[in-house]
Amino acid sequence: MDTVQPSYYITTPIYYVNAAPHLGTSYTSVLADVQARLRRATGHNVMFLTGTDEHGEKVAEAAAEHGMTPQEWCDSLVPAFKELLQLLDVTNDDFIRTTEPRHAEAVRRLMSTIKDNGYIYKGSYDGWYCVPEETYFTDTQVRHADEERGTEGEHLCPDCGRPLQRVQEESWFFKLSAFQDRLLELYRDNPHFVEPEIRRNEVVSFVEGGLKDLSISRTSFDWGIELPFDDGHVTYVWFDALINYLTAVGYGADEGEFAYRWPAQAHLVGKDIIRFHCVIWPAMLMAAGLPVPEEVFAHGFLTVKNEETGATEKMSKSRGNVVSPATVVDLLGVDGYRYYFMTDVKPGTDGGISWGRMEQVYNTDLANSWGNLVSRTLNMSAKYFDGRTPAMPEGWDTVESPLSQVASGLVDRYLEAMYRFAYDEGAAAVMELVHAANHYIEDMEPWSLAKDPARADELAFVIGSLVEAIRVSAHLLAPLMPTTSAEVLRRLSAGDEVGTRDLKAVCAWGGFAQGAPVTKGDALFPRLVAEGAAQKGDKAKAAKGGK
Ligand code: MSP
Repeated sequence: MDTVQPSYYITTPIYYVNAAPHLGTSYTSVLADVQARLRRATGHNVMFLTGTDEHGEKVAEAAAEHGMTPQEWCDSLVPAFKELLQLLDVTNDDFIRTTEPRHAEAVRRLMSTIKDNGYIYKGSYDGWYCVPEETYFTDTQVRHADEERGTEGEHLCPDCGRPLQRVQEESWFFKLSAFQDRLLELYRDNPHFVEPEIRRNEVVSFVEGGLKDLSISRTSFDWGIELPFDDGHVTYVWFDALINYLTAVGYGADEGEFAYRWPAQAHLVGKDIIRFHCVIWPAMLMAAGLPVPEEVFAHGFLTVKNEETGATEKMSKSRGNVVSPATVVDLLGVDGYRYYFMTDVKPGTDGGISWGRMEQVYNTDLANSWGNLVSRTLNMSAKYFDGRTPAMPEGWDTVESPLSQVASGLVDRYLEAMYRFAYDEGAAAVMELVHAANHYIEDMEPWSLAKDPARADELAFVIGSLVEAIRVSAHLLAPLMPTTSAEVLRRLSAGDEVGTRDLKAVCAWGGFAQGAPVTKGDALFPRLVAEGAAQKGDKAKAAKGGK
């Protein structure tokens, strides 16, 4: 392990294996992948972790419904999660399963440490439990939610509205209430600990409202990790799951690695699970005397626009509007998929997705702007310079042009946005260069310059500037669209720049390979015909048996 470079440790939530992965769950994985690729390209030694959350009642119930043991069920589903990561070009460095022995070891160690430190005690739990959410609720929380909804006496989950289970059993508790002040201090002293701000405010007011101790063990079923100090109890699935972030970086197993990697730089999570990550998790770490992660970034939900009614609906299995990632990949290609979800849904907010909008973004940004620019530039370069990029006069790159102006400071602006997960802003900054280059072609009319031998230098300058604009754009778009960016660089004889570890240096204006062979190649993003997306939508519905 290279420990000279700074470590950048990023995680996704680990996914429940109660059903096959879908567009919503893969959203977090791609968000994390873009950041992981960006950090590798900026000289970080990245550890990107994802995996599966395999214990708990929800998974045990799904297994029973399918007539399998929980372990068989998990083993049968995990390949689908791994295949989806591969399909979407996600470059995770590790894939953790909570049923692995390395994880059980870490859980037992952490639980023992917290207990030794005096923050775990025995008691009995009498309250409500939501199996689909794997979450406890008090009588008061349930009563208030039922009153608000007009479902008095039904005892429905305050979060998801499904029926709750009454749980009365002996349990071990975590003294969460002891951490209220320390947590508030953490949010105050580290304003970026929870991002974006709206989630931070939510977390702060939740903690200000007072914290109750948390039941962390169950006795009524056994699909979980036994407590190291009481073997009749299995660990509460969320306590078990959160610890995966420690397991994967050598907690209790490899001191050197753990010291290098921990604390994590970023946990990416959906907005539905911030209390676990921003309240319980840091408290657990504090209780064990470990540092807390630098940032928890909460993204929003993908929602689907109903093309018939125009209404925006949360994507969910019960509404029958869950879209399979493979269907979208069929339509947009992997890079088109990544670009659409990463830039059209503003990270941090909910995003209404629709087939029509997918087609629009793909055609406007990728087919007509970026793809078209690459194809025109490479064609002209090949045509006017004998299949090559132009050879430029000394110092050409210091001569100002509309493109060098747009490119100036671009990498810094892009990085500033991308580092805070504002991928929409980062991509928009690159698209400014792409648009400027398309306008430059219209303004300079290289085809006219090419007719006049006396203007050969001007022609070289124009085409060289365009080649340089696409080279820089390809590098900056690479975290979002790795395959097409690598292809563009190869077409420019810059294949050796693919996977750069020094994005800033490689993007310095003027760096393209001069007089190098150019490959024209096929269209990177063939335009989608008008009915393409709508038809896909129908096909997707038909495949689900919908109307
Ligand atoms: N197993 C827990 C996480 C444990 S982490 C220590 C879990 N799993 S999950 O499979 O239910 O959800 C995983 C992630 O997918 C969550 O961040 C959740 O927000 C995200 N998504 C699930 N559906 C989603 C959408 N429709 N849209 C965007 N992301 C959503 O929670």
